[in-house]
Amino acid sequence: MSEPVTILVADDEPSLRRVLSAILAREGYEILQAADGEEAIELLRREEWGASAVITDLKMPRLDGMGVLRRVALEAPDIPVIIITAHGTVDNAVEAVKAGAFDYIEKPFEKELIRQVVAKAVKQSEAQRHAPRLPLALGDTKAHGRFGLVGDSPGLKQIYAVIEKVADTPSTVLITGESGTGKELVAKALHEHSSRRNCPFIKINCAAIPKTLMESELFGYEKGAFTGAVGSKPGRFELADKGTLFLDEIGEIPVEMQVKLLRALQESEFERVGGIKTIKVDVRLITATNRDLEKEIKAGNFREDLYYRLNVVPLHIPPLRDRREDIPLLCEHILRKFNERLKKQVDGIDPEALERLINHSWPGNIRELENILERTLLFCDSPLIRVGDLPPEIGVVLSIPGAHLATASPSLLPGMTATDRTGPQSLKDIVRAETERVERELIMRALDETSGNVTQAAKLLKISRKSLQMKMKEFGLRERE
Ligand SMILES: Nc1ncnc2c1ncn2[C@@H]1O[C@H](COP(=O)(O)OP(=O)(O)OP(=O)(O)O)[C@@H](O)[C@H]1O
Ligand SMILES: [Mg+2]
Repeated sequence: MSEPVTILVADDEPSLRRVLSAILAREGYEILQAADGEEAIELLRREEWGASAVITDLKMPRLDGMGVLRRVALEAPDIPVIIITAHGTVDNAVEAVKAGAFDYIEKPFEKELIRQVVAKAVKQSEAQRHAPRLPLALGDTKAHGRFGLVGDSPGLKQIYAVIEKVADTPSTVLITGESGTGKELVAKALHEHSSRRNCPFIKINCAAIPKTLMESELFGYEKGAFTGAVGSKPGRFELADKGTLFLDEIGEIPVEMQVKLLRALQESEFERVGGIKTIKVDVRLITATNRDLEKEIKAGNFREDLYYRLNVVPLHIPPLRDRREDIPLLCEHILRKFNERLKKQVDGIDPEALERLINHSWPGNIRELENILERTLLFCDSPLIRVGDLPPEIGVVLSIPGAHLATASPSLLPGMTATDRTGPQSLKDIVRAETERVERELIMRALDETSGNVTQAAKLLKISRKSLQMKMKEFGLRERE
């Protein structure tokens, strides 16, 4: 048989405690008895929070039922807490449920009701034991990752390997990836891990600079080069000398500029606008785009020769929905960051809420995750983020990725450009992501219904056991022993 299921009963009235314990012991549960809240927490701690449910009276000396609930939510949020309440004090019990209690039972109670509620609680806690969970003590864990990036999915590990290999070379890197995937962070990491780290890292967002100013921004200008050029000014290439120049959104530069950029790169020299002196600089170039440049080439918007010159080292960052295993780590990292910034003390995310976050399709990738968690944290008053704290668009409803971004207020999406909001994703991408999400959801439901029995779940889903196992692996769902 499997290991015994432990239930803690806390009540200051000895007779009630004994009756409850007897009912549950008859069901085969192992019972721990506590005469007050402090003793309950003490016992749970001694058992290393290994209980499958807690039943507690509300009114108790030392630490009351609400206190027990709060401590359990903090230390072991997957243990369901059932509140026992005296007749006529149901209001308090409702408060408790709002604060995260699993359910409440009114005194005097029916044996059968106790059995049912406890069985349900145990089932939930067994299911959650197998769900991914955020380590609660944020301060104790160190985020996994390298080069200032968080994540240990195969996709990111590959990126770490490329950064490691090419950071300290002069080779040009083209970073591609959807908006919010961390392109700028990777560009900075490349600079920081090169011997150029003590020289400037200069960034220029090609989408933000008017066409007419692009050339003088990049290459500088001499006095009198154009109306308004009262003095001379070095361009970004000169400013980045000995360092790194990061051209963000390179897909947006006008075709005439592409020619000039290519020439500067090929000959490693250029002139300021209106200048005659040839300037030579030592610059490492990194570019990034969320566009498909090969498509842009076919459409005649991007020069093929420039593309090959920029794409010496291609570095593609996969979207977040393709590396969901990074989501818990990222949440942890982001929570820690915002706790500090917003002076909050949120310790973690309960498993159900985390599940929702993992299942969301994240069209805005990590930037969207940051925005959602910041918003959530702002309004969250408990130490634990629960489903109710998350914005409604997370997880439940079938939504078209990008749709809510299009309607969200721009202030919630700092740094997003117009192209981001119109959605860089193709219909194919959207359908693929949504199919995957629905698939994942159905598989989890089937596994829930069969208490994790893969053979039975496969039958329910009308697929072979083998393909279910493959899908589970693909979605990072662990098989239960
Ligand atoms: N792996 C990661 N670990 C930690 N934080 C990350 C990671 N990837 C991205 N971020 C954070 O997500 C946010 C968006 O990242 P970044 O600005 O680098 O994305 P981007 O790809 O340049 O986006 P855009 O295309 O919209 O410019 C930043 O706050 C960044 O710090
Ligand atoms: Mg960027």
